Amino acid sequence: MSISSAADAASPRQGLAAQAARRRTFAIISHPDAGKTTLTENLLLAGGAIRAAGQVRARGENRRTRSDWMKIERERGISVSASVMTFDHDGKMFNLLDTPGHEDFSEDTYRTLTAADAAVMVLDAAKGIEPQTLKLFEVCRLRDIPIVTFINKMDREAQDPIALLDEIASKLALDPAPLYWPAGSGNRFKGMLDLQRDMFIPFAKKTADSDGEHPEPVAFHGGNSIASYLEEGEHQELEEGAMLVQEASKPFDRQAFLEGHMTPIFFGSALRHFGVDQLLEGIGAYAPPPKTVKAAKSGEPMGVEPGDKEVTGFVFKVQANMDPNHRDRIAFLKLTSGKFSRGMKLKVQNTGRQLSVNAPIMFFASDRELAEEAFAGDVIGIPNHGVLRVGDSLSETGTLRFAGLPNFAPEILQRVRVKDPLKAKHLKKALEGLAEEGVTQLFRPNIGADFIVGAVGQLQFEVMADRLANEYQLEVIFEPSPYAEARWLGGDKADVEDFAGKHRSAMATDIDEQPVFLAKSSWEIGYVGERYPKVRFERTKERT
Ligand code: G4P
Repeated sequence: MSISSAADAASPRQGLAAQAARRRTFAIISHPDAGKTTLTENLLLAGGAIRAAGQVRARGENRRTRSDWMKIERERGISVSASVMTFDHDGKMFNLLDTPGHEDFSEDTYRTLTAADAAVMVLDAAKGIEPQTLKLFEVCRLRDIPIVTFINKMDREAQDPIALLDEIASKLALDPAPLYWPAGSGNRFKGMLDLQRDMFIPFAKKTADSDGEHPEPVAFHGGNSIASYLEEGEHQELEEGAMLVQEASKPFDRQAFLEGHMTPIFFGSALRHFGVDQLLEGIGAYAPPPKTVKAAKSGEPMGVEPGDKEVTGFVFKVQANMDPNHRDRIAFLKLTSGKFSRGMKLKVQNTGRQLSVNAPIMFFASDRELAEEAFAGDVIGIPNHGVLRVGDSLSETGTLRFAGLPNFAPEILQRVRVKDPLKAKHLKKALEGLAEEGVTQLFRPNIGADFIVGAVGQLQFEVMADRLANEYQLEVIFEPSPYAEARWLGGDKADVEDFAGKHRSAMATDIDEQPVFLAKSSWEIGYVGERYPKVRFERTKERT
């Protein structure tokens, strides 16, 4: 049945709810090198979105040749741009949000996570939980995003799986609920036991005379076939291990998982496409469909249900077109309700501007396609010339606003100057453009003509310099600024004004004209904080 006939079959509202219910929008979080790219590719393979492994990278390479600033990605072997990949598999519509892995780009990753309804946490079986995993996990917890765990690289020597579960329990305060249990690791990796079905899933080593295709699952008890995969001692060891872990851990409880207290555990080898089908099946079965989202309508708090008729959504990412000859941007819109159809008019809440969405894009793994229709949970790309910004709320009436797309206080603040002074005006426009995309943050000090650019990591400056040169033909110089920290001001209006008036030389405005205090040290923030107890010095800002 086609997507639309399913929607039209029942009453419109039921149809919308049913469409939303089959969406699974998720992101992968991991520490660099744990295998996120490899897993992404193999999930697409498992979902039938690509036919052979290697296409994601190949597609990346093509894209890179078209875009100069992506040289940085290529040279450093890191991924700095995020996108979404959509595939329809086994009755479910999966939207995989790709997040950049490098820690300098965590701000971008955080925003992408605001569009995810679930996350897959990939751990390297030899390394367990690494620093970046922990950081991203904390963001998921803050946003109540349920976590599925995939323990990767079982084809290599791994830590004791029980120790890995202990680490998850102690470091993340999450109950691990293994759905599978591995038989050995590295050279002795034989496969895994499906604890719910009591089936053994054999792992085929790649050897000179085998292509490494994994055999079909066999009964763990009561059949003869198992003997061809496990020796008696191995069988017994797996049986005892599985029994022990089942006694020691709580059984999988979907409600506890959805509430963020429990994580189902999958094992596998992304590189060898082992355990990936099971993971995808698990995401389809357990990960949540899009949920009710908090918003305000004409100032009144309310919840937007995925089955609501009005088409609504929010922009969580804006990316400049990969084609340097065009300055279009693509805004990534996560739909939160309604049935979107191509050509529809949507209004931006804060500016009131109306937009005819004539060429919305959906990102299928091998291609971009025009989206004729989309439902809550889906992500569409809207090409535009700067009308849309990160954090914008779109709806048919234009009266609805979503809360919660944060800006994070930058950790590095630099002054930016253009080499050719005649191009100063040009620079302003370019900096504003990049700030609107969320590449970097822009602060304009109340005194003086310089701009201060803020970023979470040094690499953001390099990307920015590269893009300014290639897309705007501007050679810029970054210089150290006297500032170490930036804080948005909140609290009583009169107190904020009093503070700002007395600290004029340290005050700036951000791209939304909001007041920002630029401090020379974190000590200074503590100091002024004590003297102005009614002013809040905030590390994050949610756009209003
Ligand atoms: P990332 O996106 O999380 O940074 O990781 P990526 O997938 O790029 O994987 C990092 C390295 O780990 C790659 O090796 C990849 O082949 C390897 N890898 C991923 N999954 C598995 C697995 O299940 N088993 C084993 N043995 N290796 C795995 P590389 O040598 O750094 O890169 P490449 O030359 O293979 O591309």
